[in-house]
Amino acid sequence: MNHPASAQLQRPPEERAVVHPEVDRAFIGRLVREFYGRVRRDARLGPIFAAEIAGSWEPHLEKMTDFWCSVILKDGSYSGRPVPAHTKLEQVREADFDVWLGHFRASAEEFCPEGVAETFIDRAERIAKSLRLAMFFRLERASGAER
Ligand code: HEM
Repeated sequence: MNHPASAQLQRPPEERAVVHPEVDRAFIGRLVREFYGRVRRDARLGPIFAAEIAGSWEPHLEKMTDFWCSVILKDGSYSGRPVPAHTKLEQVREADFDVWLGHFRASAEEFCPEGVAETFIDRAERIAKSLRLAMFFRLERASGAER
């Protein structure tokens, strides 16, 4: 029972690595580049990223490849702090997350092998939800709804 494969199966689905012959770092790097290509062309998100990423995009794309390898392959490539990276972005509005997720969904559906897009989308939605809460949750607004 201590075999790594059975240890994997005992974990909740979101903690399990995706094991698929086509889904490796090279694949994730291509998906990340496709997705950020769309983000950069987006009229709303493009300028937000352009303001933050002044120089070369390559370090950001490599960092995002590390991030997605950690999320999907569970290989520990990424060790950063996504929350402060986003709470400092004053231009971002809550609705921008829907736009971001729309591009992510389209890229994953177009690029992923059969049965894999759902996992990428599910992870993106979960993480987006926590980032969104970290950026926009206000207690007075939440309790205000009850009054
Ligand atoms: C409206 C939605 C979003 C906007 C406008 C946005 C924008 C940005 C920007 C401008 C950066 C800084 C780039 C850099 O300095 O490298 C960044 C970093 C990052 N973003 Fe987002 N983001 C959004 C949503 C998300 C979501 C949903 C995820 C995850 C599923 C995500 C994951 C990350 C990560 C991991 C970093 C790197 C943080 C670090 O370690 O420095 N972002 N984002």
